[in-house]
Amino acid sequence: MAKKDIDWGSLGFGYIETDYRYLASFKDGKWDEGQIITDPNVTLNECACVFQYAQTVFEGLKAYTTEDGRTVTFRPDLNAERINQSAARLQMPTLPEGMFIDAVKKVVKANEDWVPPFGSGASLYVRPYIMGTNAVIGVKPADEYQFRILTTPVGPYFKGGAKPLTIRVSDFDRAAPNGTGHIKAGLNYAMSLYAIVDAHEKGFAENMYLDSATRTKVEETGGANFLFVTRDGKVVTPKSNTILPSITRRSLIQVAKEYLGLEAEEREITLEEVKDMAECGLCGTAAVISPVGKVNDHGTEICFPSGMDEMGPITKKLYDTLTGIQMGKIKAPEGWIVEI
Ligand code: PLP
Ligand code: COI
Repeated sequence: MAKKDIDWGSLGFGYIETDYRYLASFKDGKWDEGQIITDPNVTLNECACVFQYAQTVFEGLKAYTTEDGRTVTFRPDLNAERINQSAARLQMPTLPEGMFIDAVKKVVKANEDWVPPFGSGASLYVRPYIMGTNAVIGVKPADEYQFRILTTPVGPYFKGGAKPLTIRVSDFDRAAPNGTGHIKAGLNYAMSLYAIVDAHEKGFAENMYLDSATRTKVEETGGANFLFVTRDGKVVTPKSNTILPSITRRSLIQVAKEYLGLEAEEREITLEEVKDMAECGLCGTAAVISPVGKVNDHGTEICFPSGMDEMGPITKKLYDTLTGIQMGKIKAPEGWIVEI
């Protein structure tokens, strides 16, 4: 086995075709055994439910090389649980116990040469997805499905690495008018495309979405949850049932409490109180923790005391501890690290 000859350190967050992918099919009410395949293309009927009514859900997790050379993934049991919640919400069959983690292990193992080496700053992004594949023209769920997993080596999600970002308060909602779309536990990514292109055109890295009912509460960004540090050193993250329940955020709350001895809580956070925060970061599998230096609220700038040069001190401790756990440098809580 030899790692691929890639300049791992210069990778951004893009798609690079790897050698293998996973495919399982659902027909006549059951999933088949699943297999590793080589063809990166998917051929489906023009009227497949995924094309007509976007009946598809996805997950995202990463595989890492640890300091002592093992290949590991981080809390895949939580991705397994969440993809089933997403699937149930779109009237898709769920995956039986064990199938998700077994498939992740197989596809990462097959692509082990593509798992970036320890210390390279890159990782192998693993993207499981399920879609309705047979033809439907009336609005109804499909009867046949594919569960696939693709993998791609990635670097930092945001350009500029660990430099603090400038984001803006968004006037757009992500919610689809009647709740259909490409969801991951209730979110609609297609409805966020207009907002992200508009934000980038205006020089912002991301959108801070507000709750659509009152437009006063902080929700999340297009691809990550928020994490704030208050001026008295408490870690707080928005509590809402209309954001993606981030595995990274849930883990960071535990890390803050158990590893760093900090107070940490999930609670409603209003836009009004953002100006009083000491630090702000975006957390997620892809984003890890990307620091935010500035939030533009319709021309009014909210600048965090941590500034535009580096991560705030508590954000940095959280980042170092989380990535230390993920890469096997710091002892993980029971069950967090799954070896391939
Ligand atoms: N919020 C959104 C909209 C996302 O797409 C993601 C990415 O997965 C997250 C939050 C972070 O979730 P997780 O930490 O489980 O990757
Ligand atoms: C992830 O972090 O896994 C995401 O889904 C974020 C983004 C690429 C959609």
